[in-house]
Amino acid sequence: TRGGIDFAVADLSLAEFGRKEIRLAEHEMPGLMALRREYAEVYPLKGARISGSLHMTVQTAVLIETLVALGAEVRWCSCNIFSTQDHAAAAVVVGPHGTPEEPKGVPVYAWKGETLPEYWWATEKMLDWPDGQGPNMILDDGGDATLLVHKGVQYEKAGVVPATEDDDPEEWGLILETLRNSLAADSGKWTRVASGIRGVTEETTTGVLRLYQLAAAGDLLFPAINVNDSVTKSKFDNRYGIRHSLVDGINRGTDVLIAGKVAVICGYGDVGKGSAESLRGQGARVVVTEIDPICALQAAMDGYEVRTLDQAVGEADIIITTTGNKDVVTVEHMAKMKHQTILGNVGHFDNELDIAGLTRYPGIRRINIKPQVDEWVFPDGHSIIVLSEGRLLNLGNATGHPSFVMSNSFSNQVIAQVELFTKHEEYDREVYRLAKKLDEKVARIHLEALGGTLTKLTKEQAEYIDVDVEGPFKSEHYRY
Ligand code: NAI
Repeated sequence: TRGGIDFAVADLSLAEFGRKEIRLAEHEMPGLMALRREYAEVYPLKGARISGSLHMTVQTAVLIETLVALGAEVRWCSCNIFSTQDHAAAAVVVGPHGTPEEPKGVPVYAWKGETLPEYWWATEKMLDWPDGQGPNMILDDGGDATLLVHKGVQYEKAGVVPATEDDDPEEWGLILETLRNSLAADSGKWTRVASGIRGVTEETTTGVLRLYQLAAAGDLLFPAINVNDSVTKSKFDNRYGIRHSLVDGINRGTDVLIAGKVAVICGYGDVGKGSAESLRGQGARVVVTEIDPICALQAAMDGYEVRTLDQAVGEADIIITTTGNKDVVTVEHMAKMKHQTILGNVGHFDNELDIAGLTRYPGIRRINIKPQVDEWVFPDGHSIIVLSEGRLLNLGNATGHPSFVMSNSFSNQVIAQVELFTKHEEYDREVYRLAKKLDEKVARIHLEALGGTLTKLTKEQAEYIDVDVEGPFKSEHYRY
C-alpha cells in the first residue's frame, strides 16, 4: 500500500515509461477516446465497482482509464501469468496525476511471470474491495473471475470444498485451495459477493463458452454480455489482432526465418484464420487442421492444405494451436516432431498442448533459453522449442494485439459495462449480445479514423433492401 492504494506490481518506477506508451496508445484507440468524449460529465459508471481480469497491457491501461473517466472505481488483475506488461501495470497504479511515491491510480495485482498460486491470489485480491465489499460489476477475459465467484457460491452452499475436481489436478488444486482458505475465513463471502454483482461482460471465445454452459445449466448467478461475439470484436481482434501478434511472438521468441518453412495451424476459426494469414504473409507453407468441415473447406479455398496433425507433424517447422480445445497436440506428437520444431499456442488456455505429459516424458530434459522460451530435449536427441510454456504466446513472447484493434474490442467492453450497470434490472441471468447498431457505431468510429469514407444509402435503396437509412444494415442471421 502506498498513497492509500493497495497494489502488487513488479516495479512502480516503470510508470513513466508506461505513461509514455499509454499516451501513444490513446491516439491509436479512437473508439475508447470517443466514448470518453461522449460520456464526459455524464459519468454513467458513477457508483460502479468494476473488478477486471484481463491481460494487463498498455491497451488495457487505456481501457481501465476510460472506465475511470466514465465514473467507475476499478480493481484489476491479469488473466494470464505471462501477459502483463510491467510498465503498463505500474502506470495504471500511479495514474495520470500521481507519482511512484504518491500513486493516485487504480489497484492492480499483476506482474509478468506470476506463479499459478500468485495468479489465484491476485484474482481474489482483485475481487476483494476495501471494507469487506465486493464488486458490483465484473469484466472478464476467459472467465476465471466469474469461475471463482461461481465456485465459491457452489461450495458455500454445499458447506465444503471438495478434495479434487475436474481433470486438471494442478490448476484445480489451486482454485480449490484458494476457496478453502477464503471459506475458512468467511463462510458467506462468495454468496455475498455474488449477490452484489449486477453483471459480467466477457471478452473471449473460451470465457463465453463457459458462460453459455453456466446459463444452460441454470447456474449463472448474474446477467452476462458476450462481448466476443460483437462483430467488431471477434471478426477483428481474434483475426487481424493475431495476424499481427502471432508472428511478433514467434519472432521475439526465436527469431527463426519463417519464409519457406512448413507451419501447421490447428483450428481455422477466427483466430486460426488470422494465424494462417500471419505465417503465409511471411512466406511459410501453411497446413491447417480442422474438425469442422465448413472451416476446413474455407481453409482449402483460402489456399491452405488441410491435413490431420498426425499426417503433418513430421514435416512441420512451426506448430500453433488456435482451437480453444484441449489435448490438440499430444506428447506423442511432440516425440515425432523434427529437430527444433517451434511449438506454441494462442488459444486461451494452455491445455491445447500436453505440457504436463511433456514434463513427465521418460528421459526428457528442459533447457531454459530465456524467459518464455524453453528447449525440450528428447532422449533420442531431437528437441522442440516451446513458447510461453504453452500459454498464449502472442502475449507471453510479445505484447499481444496492437492498440487499434483492441480499441474495437474495448469499445464494446465499455458499452457493455455501461449497459449492464445502468440497466441491469432489464436483464435476466442469461447471456446477451450487444445490439447491432452499437456494433456498427464502433466500426464507424474506427473506419473514420483510418480515413475511410462510407457510402450512404438513398431512401429508395434502403427501402429496396429493407433496412433503415441509418442502419442496422444487416439482419441478425447475416454472418459477415
Ligand atoms: P473459434 O470457435 O472461431 O475457432 C476455433 C476453431 O477450432 C473452430 O473452427 C473449431 O472447429 C476448431 N477446432 C476445435 N477443436 C479442434 C481440434 N481438435 N483440431 C482442430 N481444430 C479444432 O474460436 P476463436 O475465436 O478462433 O478462438 C480460439 C481460441 O483463441 C479461444 O480459446 C479464444 O478464447 C482464444 N483467443 C485468443 C486470442 C489471443 O490473443 N491469443 C484472441 C482471441 C481469442
